Amino acid sequence: MSEQDDFKRAAAEKALELVRDGMLLGLGSGSTVRYFTEGLGLLVADGMKVRGVPTSRATAEIAAANGIAVVEEIVGQIDLAVDGADEVDASLSLIKGRGGALFREKLVAAASKRFVIVVDESKVVERLGAGVLPVEVLPFLWRTTAERLAGLCSGLKVRGGEEEPYVTDNGNLVLDLSFEDGIADAPALGSSLKAVTGVVEHGLFIAMTDECIVGGPNGSRVLSRPI
Ligand code: 5RP
Repeated sequence: MSEQDDFKRAAAEKALELVRDGMLLGLGSGSTVRYFTEGLGLLVADGMKVRGVPTSRATAEIAAANGIAVVEEIVGQIDLAVDGADEVDASLSLIKGRGGALFREKLVAAASKRFVIVVDESKVVERLGAGVLPVEVLPFLWRTTAERLAGLCSGLKVRGGEEEPYVTDNGNLVLDLSFEDGIADAPALGSSLKAVTGVVEHGLFIAMTDECIVGGPNGSRVLSRPI
């Protein structure tokens, strides 16, 4: 296991301390939160009773393989959702979706009383947008959506390429937007993206995260959202 994997695991193990018997949990997607889901499986094997709302088909399979009861329809709120991120800034705004699950991830985050992010320290940035920002779009007339989005970024590519584009669990495409100088105003960009016809959802998560657990060489540290 690489050092980065150790950091991911340290963050995920810290998040497991927040789980209580009877909770309805949001289960994020990606390699970091996978450690959380697998650890949760061990708690379930020891007798803990929880249910999980998965944010992707891949996570649903991992959860089921680890003995966690999976639900996809809920009434009320999720007690705690734990997910990974691609970039996190000091205000705990995020870029998510490089694993392609951003729409369900945002639905689960929005339905949760507490949204906790687990990352290794390489994900903590001063300004969002050094890497790409994923945007999920409807396949129908997607090139016209891409043209509308082009004015909001420095460049964009359809994930997987035009020949065989990547298709999300929701049957949509992902456009990866790039920003030469990063993202200057993430909330404003989020609003602009949301207003583009054809956009299903974007990977900016603004003012949604309650805590971010960062795994690093000294174990884990918790960043809380500034008030
Ligand atoms: C998937 C995501 C992931 O949570 C994000 O890409 C982080 O993944 P990893 O923990 O593998 O780095 O947003 O849509």
